Amino acid sequence: MNRIDTLMARMTLAEKLGQLTMTASGYTVTGPVIAGDSTQSIIDGTIGNLLNMVGAGPAHEMQRLAVEQSRLGIPLLIGLDIVHGHRTLFPIPLAEAGIFDEAVWERTAREAAREGAADGLAMTFAPMLDVSRDPRWGRTAEGPGEDPWLNGRIARAKVRGFQGTDLSSAESLAACAKHFVAYSPVTAGREYAAVDISERTLREVHLPGFVAAIEAGVATLMPAFTDLNGVPMTAHVPLLRDWLRGEMGFDGVIVSDYNAIAELIKHGVAADLVDAAVLALKAGVDIDMMADAYRKGLPVALEQGRVTIDEIDACVRRVLRLKEQLGLFDDPYRRGATPEPAEAVAERHALARDVARRAIVLLKNERRNDRDVLPLPAAAKALAVVGPLADARTEMKGPWWGAGEHEPAVSVLDGLRVALPQTDIRHAPGVAIDGGDDSGIEAAVALCDGASAVLLCLGERATMSGEAASRATPALPGRQQALAEAVTARAHALGIPVVAILFSGRPLVVPWLAEHADALLAAWFLGAEAGHAIADVLTGRASPSGRTPMSWPRAVGQVPIFFGQRPTGRPMNPADYYTSKYQDVDNTPLFAFGHGLTYGRIRYEELQVEPRRVCEQDTLKISVTLRNEGAREAEETVFLFVRAKVSRVTRPLLELKGYAKLRLRPGEAGSVKLELPASELRYLGPDLQPLFEAGEIEICVGPSAEPAGLLRETIELG
Ligand code: BGC
Repeated sequence: MNRIDTLMARMTLAEKLGQLTMTASGYTVTGPVIAGDSTQSIIDGTIGNLLNMVGAGPAHEMQRLAVEQSRLGIPLLIGLDIVHGHRTLFPIPLAEAGIFDEAVWERTAREAAREGAADGLAMTFAPMLDVSRDPRWGRTAEGPGEDPWLNGRIARAKVRGFQGTDLSSAESLAACAKHFVAYSPVTAGREYAAVDISERTLREVHLPGFVAAIEAGVATLMPAFTDLNGVPMTAHVPLLRDWLRGEMGFDGVIVSDYNAIAELIKHGVAADLVDAAVLALKAGVDIDMMADAYRKGLPVALEQGRVTIDEIDACVRRVLRLKEQLGLFDDPYRRGATPEPAEAVAERHALARDVARRAIVLLKNERRNDRDVLPLPAAAKALAVVGPLADARTEMKGPWWGAGEHEPAVSVLDGLRVALPQTDIRHAPGVAIDGGDDSGIEAAVALCDGASAVLLCLGERATMSGEAASRATPALPGRQQALAEAVTARAHALGIPVVAILFSGRPLVVPWLAEHADALLAAWFLGAEAGHAIADVLTGRASPSGRTPMSWPRAVGQVPIFFGQRPTGRPMNPADYYTSKYQDVDNTPLFAFGHGLTYGRIRYEELQVEPRRVCEQDTLKISVTLRNEGAREAEETVFLFVRAKVSRVTRPLLELKGYAKLRLRPGEAGSVKLELPASELRYLGPDLQPLFEAGEIEICVGPSAEPAGLLRETIELG
């Protein structure tokens, strides 16, 4: 008999249910406190898994109780969210998505896995694969942005990064694809609210990221808190059992979200905890995180004949197998055995700085007095650094600090002072991030006199995005708009430029700022090295290359706004009243998906597509020439979209199918080559089955999803 069979034969029901239970320990490095339990439960074998434990010391201490003192010695599985870095915080996932570089996505996950594993963890609840088209939803910050194809790329890279090539390695963690599925389109952008979307949208937009994660071998998966078209995901038999386990053959561990099994009662689909446990088990949920529904409910359900021991055993086997794959039986102390060397940590900070500067999106950069406003002139004598986010180290960390809570982060002010030691850097916050007090505005305005430029550091508090952080009006909070107006008026009266740096976990609705600031940067939340990264870009030490992975709305009423919208029978036409438009705002976004300027000026020319007629087995070869007509080096991101001209089902106006990057010195030209297997032009036909349909298709290449900037070539499928 193998190890798992031997254990299964010896386990009591209580021990089996212990393996299906995950309990939060105190989020502490000083000594673990187990929520609703005591460490005695670990010794008794009635808790088999923990979350929210930080530090190899406490992790090993708990592991010793399980391995050395419990009857069967089964090691614990210990997991924690690693959303954008563990101790060394990287940019939030939304910001990282805009780097469009799989190597970067994989590397940050790998480094975070190393740090997490060094802290004794074996599992992380990441990556988050919720495509979001609604900036009201705070968890937009944790995800890939609006595009499903991009999400698939990120999913693959993240799973590879967290899990490495060998799950049993002391540096690997089991990843968890979450939140399955379609959590983001909550009603009116309100966290945890009901979700009602079509089968087509589910399959085209929300499932592909999970398909990619499963194909990459993701070890675990977490159902969303929400319901989908009336069925809570934690009890969703058609999607969890039939699609995921059945169609996709996913045999990894399904772990519920925090207390989600018990919440089936509030959803109104379960009468009590026993009922809830039955529903979740029948759907295929293996581990009950924090609801204690399995331990309390399943013995009763078993006695009543509502579940079978075989159903329970199947879950236990999956959990034990995961522990085996992670090498926990062979050496439960492998992770966290040796502290990481100081050089590894230092290198990680260098990586965090590099990734942070690449995530910054230059949304606007006007010319003033015959020069681009950014980068700042080398000789700037004085800079007025204004706004509540200039001196805000903690906010730079972003919404999920994880174990980086006590680690330092660099503010904008810190970064600028190091980068420009000769410059007089003056600072006034002006106003708080939120709140109604604007008595500090005057002092902020006064700083403009004698400055070479004003840097306005505005935006959200980190906790205004992330879980439970929906905002009905995702604009500048508090009195920041008043500050921006007063400072801009003064600066412009003095003839000095205003550079606005925006911090947020989502696109913000900032049409006024986009019009009046001379330069505008989306700095999202960039993590530990934020201030240095921003200073690198402001001073021109680094050339910005980030792109926005979500469309920025002009008005909240445009939400959801995304480039992959379907056509209408009455496309917008200003000359025709009865067309699809608003009376009070343009249809277009303030900034399109993919938008992001460089310090160069890139011209797109000569799009070539071969062959002109393709069958399903062929591969399209696409090339485009780029020329940098600007005065500075630039790294350009080139996007490949397609648009079917006629098909049996209406298709998005643009579908992302690829991207590439090219670095060009001033005056330099080069060509970018992209390949597109024609099989990727299949779409879901009228019956929702993949279809390769003959007909014309447009190949569109350009710097963003903004239609005017695309070069197009029509080819024939057949
Ligand atoms: C979140 C999950 C997270 C879990 C454990 C929940 O509130 O929805 O994303 O993994 O907590 O921390």
